[in-house]
Amino acid sequence: MQLERMLQSQGFGTRRECRALVRMERVAVRGETMDDPFADIDTVDLDFSVDDVPWRYQEKAYVLLHKPAGYECSQKPKHHPAVFALLPPQLVTRGLQCVGRLDEDTTGLLLLTDDGQFIHRLTSPKHGVLKRYVATTKHPVDDAQLAALRGGVELNDAPGVSVAAHAVEQIDANHLSITIGEGRYHQVKRMIAAAGNRCEALHRAAVGRLELPDDLAPGQWRWIDPNDI
Ligand code: URA
Repeated sequence: MQLERMLQSQGFGTRRECRALVRMERVAVRGETMDDPFADIDTVDLDFSVDDVPWRYQEKAYVLLHKPAGYECSQKPKHHPAVFALLPPQLVTRGLQCVGRLDEDTTGLLLLTDDGQFIHRLTSPKHGVLKRYVATTKHPVDDAQLAALRGGVELNDAPGVSVAAHAVEQIDANHLSITIGEGRYHQVKRMIAAAGNRCEALHRAAVGRLELPDDLAPGQWRWIDPNDI
């Protein structure tokens, strides 16, 4: 692939901007400084750098972000900054989108990608990819609430439909681990409310087989292999 096209595909700007980066000798490929924007580059296992910042060529970008509270999963945030503000501008330029949304005050594992099929597979109710949350409740959890969450509760926008958690475990008096397969609007908070309690804080710990890594601080992100989900 032509060098300037490769840079453009990775979010470094328009072709003209990428051409200028190369002409200014700000780009190195496999350790070698480049000056020809039209050089043919093999993109397999490609390490390159721009202004000495290392990058690896990614045909599609798959990113895991430890979402902190106070960020919106929206391209047009209303009251708080967007999660995209936590990512390098190259990833935003190449059009990363959130794989489902977390509420502004929800923390934890958020996936972002520019692979539309991947978003569809992970968010479509047909596939029912499991999402595990840790919820902090206002009142101590009791057996009736656990039974309601396991057996199914009715949400106000779907009367007559019983929505059950895939799994619910009590962690301690005011903490629940709750796993769901769908992704309805405010689903976990509304299920806990419908069971007779109140969700005071919500944290997503896992999506499919992928757990939020312990060493990834709030606000930090890393590349992931989509096959790990
Ligand atoms: N359920 C909610 O209520 N909020 C989230 O952010 C995610 C799931």
